[in-house]
Amino acid sequence: MKFDKNILCIGAGYVGGPTMAMIAHKCPQYKVTVVDINPERISQWNSDELPIYEPGLDEIVKAARGKNLFFGTDIEEGIRDAGIIFVSVNTPTKTFGAGAGMAADLQYWEKTARQILQCSDSPKIIIEKSTLPVKTALAMERILTSTHNGIHFDVLSNPEFLAEGTAISDLESPDRVLIGSRQTERGLKARDALVEIYANWVPEERIITANIWSSELSKLVANAFLAQRISSVNSISALCEITDADITEVAGAIGMDSRIGDKFLKASVGFGGSCFKKDILNLVYLCRHYGLHEVADYWESVVRLNDYQKERFVLRILTDMFNTLAGKRISIFGFAFKADTGDTRESPAIFIAKRLVEEKAELVITDPKALKNAKIDLDGLDGNISYVEDPYDAAVGCHAIAILTEWNLYRELDFEKIYRSMVKPAFIFDGRNIVDHKKLFEIGFNVFPIGKSALTHF
Ligand code: UDX
Ligand code: UDX
Repeated sequence: MKFDKNILCIGAGYVGGPTMAMIAHKCPQYKVTVVDINPERISQWNSDELPIYEPGLDEIVKAARGKNLFFGTDIEEGIRDAGIIFVSVNTPTKTFGAGAGMAADLQYWEKTARQILQCSDSPKIIIEKSTLPVKTALAMERILTSTHNGIHFDVLSNPEFLAEGTAISDLESPDRVLIGSRQTERGLKARDALVEIYANWVPEERIITANIWSSELSKLVANAFLAQRISSVNSISALCEITDADITEVAGAIGMDSRIGDKFLKASVGFGGSCFKKDILNLVYLCRHYGLHEVADYWESVVRLNDYQKERFVLRILTDMFNTLAGKRISIFGFAFKADTGDTRESPAIFIAKRLVEEKAELVITDPKALKNAKIDLDGLDGNISYVEDPYDAAVGCHAIAILTEWNLYRELDFEKIYRSMVKPAFIFDGRNIVDHKKLFEIGFNVFPIGKSALTHF
């Protein structure tokens, strides 16, 4: 079959996989190929068990796979065949050299750009899907034009705003699609080719265009603003706990101001995920690089507050359980960084589990989707840790439960049954404010929510 366009995506991760599946699903007239250097990941994409859990993803992948959606490892052939190449390889925080712990590690990006240059024998549109520091496109353009081989490359920025757990609905009905391009005749033509793809299902008023640097920067700034809201509400949660104010009431009251808005105001044990911390540190690094130290300090405080919130949660468990956790069994309810995903990257649960093990607590970890990743994250940790699928079994013989992920499943548990199976006095630390605190208190639990007064029997 002859397709209207051949689209390639390099990087079959949390972003590349679902995004390309949606393009293939919405545009049967295009051939979409996703390639990756990791053959195991590709074989999972080609199997019945996809490498990532995302509600609704299985259906659209299985419907399009083998028809107009293909997963493979032949990156070179993929490059040769495609006119449009999305690059969605990971850009982790650098762990070495200048900028270690702060700057983005661009080695995979640069390697990919060189590979595109090497394998291309026709003009291509290259699209930055990965989150990158502002001005990365310039470096890419320089690499792509370095051999003067006469082949023209246009570099566009098209950051992805999907959130895990809701990736499919975010992709199907995005608030906006942002496309940044050079403002030259060729740049604008390349931009229009990408607009045409999204216009297959996204209303045109939601497809916004910008200059390429604004587009790159907007992604970092969007994540920084979202994370800043969580750190803001979490900072106030600490104050609520000592003043008898209630963070849910405070957030509800301020969120009704339409200038503030009611989203992303849920106090929690801290934000996690692969993006927020990495992108803020990247922004901080850029600001320092340009000598904007006050701006850098401002954004860095968002990450510092998040670290404080996680540590505060651990110290609360320690002090409220009579200042010793040694030998006590604590069940961790939820290890994923948020509900509806098996992803544990930067999950607050990792930090909290490690700190509790340092205090010599025994951990029983339960999660409906993230146990496999939890085992990898805590591998080699010297402590007594077990992993249990069923939350009822996980609570048996425990002194405390710490809820770290807002899985709906935990709202609906029979806590009377759980209470009966636990050591008394039984404690529950609700790091997500998702269970009925009053009811649990009446059952007999000592209840410690985030940003609200504790309900205790002593
Ligand atoms: C993406 C973006 O790349 C990141 O910048 C953004 O901030 C979050 O979303 P994500 O899809 O979550 O990252 O990353 P990951 O799931 O790690 O997937 C990246 C994939 O690229 C991996 O499967 C990896 O094997 C692949 N890869 C990496 C390549 O194919 N080639 C490389 O050279 C490097
Ligand atoms: C985020 C951005 O939302 C998305 O636009 C971007 O493309 C990638 O980064 P993601 O990290 O997948 O998405 O999930 P998100 O829903 O933003 O949650 C991030 C973290 O914040 C989670 O740990 C979540 O539990 C926490 N959170 C979120 C809160 O603690 N309180 C809130 O009110 C909202």
